[in-house]
Amino acid sequence: MSRFWSPFVKGLVPYVPGEQPKMHKLTKLNTNENPYGPSPKVLAAIQDELGDDLRRYPDPNSDLLKAAIADYHGVDAAQVFVGNGSDEVLAHIFHGLFQHGKPLLFPDITYSFYPVYCGLYGIPYEAIPLDESFQIRVGDYTGMKGGIIFPNPNAPTGCFLPLAEIERLLMVNTETVVVIDEAYVDFGGESAICLVERFPNLLVTQTLSKSRSLAGLRVGFAVGHPDLIEALERIKNSFNSYPLDRLAQRGAVASFADQAYFEQCQQAVVSERDKLVQALTALDFEVLPSAANFVFCRHCSRDAAALAAGLREDGVIVRHFKQARIEQYLRITVGRPEENAVLLASLQAILAN
Ligand SMILES: Cc1ncc(COP(=O)(O)O)c(C=O)c1O
Repeated sequence: MSRFWSPFVKGLVPYVPGEQPKMHKLTKLNTNENPYGPSPKVLAAIQDELGDDLRRYPDPNSDLLKAAIADYHGVDAAQVFVGNGSDEVLAHIFHGLFQHGKPLLFPDITYSFYPVYCGLYGIPYEAIPLDESFQIRVGDYTGMKGGIIFPNPNAPTGCFLPLAEIERLLMVNTETVVVIDEAYVDFGGESAICLVERFPNLLVTQTLSKSRSLAGLRVGFAVGHPDLIEALERIKNSFNSYPLDRLAQRGAVASFADQAYFEQCQQAVVSERDKLVQALTALDFEVLPSAANFVFCRHCSRDAAALAAGLREDGVIVRHFKQARIEQYLRITVGRPEENAVLLASLQAILAN
């Protein structure tokens, strides 16, 4: 705190990202990164971009990337917005598309950046409780609202809401923007992008951070009606004309061109997830059904904070949220087979004591 801070800054409650430890030799299963590296074709494209052109600004509109995303998802480039990670895309959505005079609705257990953006942009919100099995009930998203947002699959639960339910929600919510945050959709969900033609108030966000192994490149995007996209472009061009640098644009385009590698990593993660769920269940964990690259689980008798601390002593980092309803849960990113083996061996040793 400093006397130079504005009252606004004093009141901000920033998001706390999962730890990115500097030490090596850790089994890092806390921030839902992909355990497999980016496509070699992405790395080659980024290498190729490293040259004299770096003295020039990148394309402010990321036209080639928008075209690649539009092509991949079967939409028009005018329906695509890109940003520096989907977090930035979400920030612009909060700023430009949610009505600030009415509460925004999102689940009580969800991505913890949403209330932070509400604080930053002065948006009131109402947290709608998930049901007792941690599922979203779309029928609860009624009444006066300035918008609706949730991840699908939800985070940190990993639970997926079928597309028919999203459609049901959209049928009765035509007057405000509905955002489906699909950061994890490639690991077992079904994208709502196919609904954007029918619902001009629907925006779907995705990221290259998870299924495309590019969290370090910072690329995210939104797909929706061109009018919604134009609002986001207006915000972006009033804030930073060049959110995606040359390397990010080249690498991201190359990622969409390597479907085989994408599918290979996706399948490897899904198959490891299934094995991890089985092994955790055998260790008396109750694991929520996950359609993401992480699992959310609680042990039948051991305290979650103590388990997280014990794992940490063994160099295994998982995520524990000190939050009502989920304080007994751990969120564990699906790692490579050898990482999952280290996690399970550590858990086994802790549970044996
Ligand atoms: C639900 C959800 N949405 C969005 C993001 C942001 O992803 P990024 O900014 O890396 O695209 C995350 C990151 O963990 C997330 O969990």
